[in-house]
Amino acid sequence: MPTQDATSTIFAISGSLRRASLNTRLIDEAAKLAPDAFQFDIYESLGNLPHFNEDHEFPAPPEVDDLRRRVRAADALLIATPEYNASVPGVLKNAIDWLSRPAEGQPLPLTAKPVAIIGASMGPLGTVRAQLSLRQILQKVDAAVVRQPEFILAAAHTQLEAEGLGPDSATAAVLRSVLEQLQILIEA
Ligand code: FNR
Repeated sequence: MPTQDATSTIFAISGSLRRASLNTRLIDEAAKLAPDAFQFDIYESLGNLPHFNEDHEFPAPPEVDDLRRRVRAADALLIATPEYNASVPGVLKNAIDWLSRPAEGQPLPLTAKPVAIIGASMGPLGTVRAQLSLRQILQKVDAAVVRQPEFILAAAHTQLEAEGLGPDSATAAVLRSVLEQLQILIEA
């Protein structure tokens, strides 16, 4: 358990590979708004992960070893998910599938790991269905997911593409609150 003034490492994943991704932008906003004690390790290799294949688990590909090592080393995860066809993008599910499988001599990296879910979309539903789907997946792998508040950002391009959230916006307040809840889970 980290002490009150210890630094916490947050491993942050955007579920989008798109260069101008709103969800990647959201991760950047979260890093700006986060408590000083949070240090972000932002994952930029989601697109390089091999497709999960049981025939290739032992030995695991080096990209998978790297992902597992960084998740294990982190105190918590922050996942920003886009919504693709009412669920999470396949690339994000692929990463979680790799993380859900045993590696020789190592504990499962997501078991009891604190995780906060956020998401942004251009449409009116703001990733609500993707987030429900991601909650179900993370429940299966026994992660400790922040329950409230939910951070669901509809019409995200109107807020994120121009100047970002701004530290005093109502949206920034919810995002800050999600991160505070994540800190509570880390310290629990
Ligand atoms: C989408 N999009 C989308 N939006 C939504 O609100 N509900 C949905 O079910 C879907 N489905 C969907 C499928 C696929 C294959 C694509 C490419 C897109 C739109 C999507 O939310 C939007 O493009 C976001 O901007 C994607 O997130 P990033 O890349 O901006 O982070």
